[in-house]
Amino acid sequence: MAIAQTHSLKVIEDCAQSFGAQYLGDCHNCQCQGDLRQELQGKYTGTIGDCGAFSFFPTKNLGAYGDGGLLVTNNPHIAETARKLRVHGSISKYQNEMLGYNSRLDSIQAAILRVKLPYIDRWNERRRTIAQTYNSLLADVAEIITPAIVKGHVFHQYTIRILQDKRSRLVELLQKEGIGTMIYYPIPLHRLPVYQNKYPAFPQCEQLAQEVLSLPMYPELANQTIGEICQTLKRCLSVLS
Ligand SMILES: Cc1ncc(COP(=O)(O)O)c(C=O)c1O
Repeated sequence: MAIAQTHSLKVIEDCAQSFGAQYLGDCHNCQCQGDLRQELQGKYTGTIGDCGAFSFFPTKNLGAYGDGGLLVTNNPHIAETARKLRVHGSISKYQNEMLGYNSRLDSIQAAILRVKLPYIDRWNERRRTIAQTYNSLLADVAEIITPAIVKGHVFHQYTIRILQDKRSRLVELLQKEGIGTMIYYPIPLHRLPVYQNKYPAFPQCEQLAQEVLSLPMYPELANQTIGEICQTLKRCLSVLS
């Protein structure tokens, strides 16, 4: 936001899976200072920039049973343009004012989301508690770096770093034990074929892509299961040299 203010830019927030997340000013990497920091304090994602885009893909914190999404803004011009774009460029039927898309939210998905919406804060709170539990159970493992628990974080994923080049062997062992893990993402953005040769190397990003590993994370995850996952993970790491 500070950069955007300086250069008169618009900000579109990619809030895909951050439904219910809040900026609480304790992010160590944040560039915002003074008045701006104060102004943003306590704001929900999607309300910070000029508009925010949420995803209702089934795996998201607030997920439908198929594809869907939401755009939030308090800019009337953006709101009207988005309303037109979602229905082939028209607000009144057959009065198309611009080229648009078929991007209406399916009624079935909307009905499902309305049932789930009242639970989202509770589910996010549970995700934070699960992250805390993982962090304390994994605190003594030398090959693991656990994430910082920042207030307002909604932990769509719980992602740790596996050091000493042990990640791929660990994933295999965990799979044999019936513990599913995911790597978000194995290929950094600038290495994707679509961006090939367009950007320089980003060494930190490339290193992280070799180390990150996301452990099971969903609100229904039982404490006992978290304990079993951590025990198994430690056992698997201890047999890797
Ligand atoms: C950060 C982020 N933005 C956008 C998307 C895309 O969302 P959708 O599939 O609803 O277009 C994703 C999906 O994984 C995402 O993780």
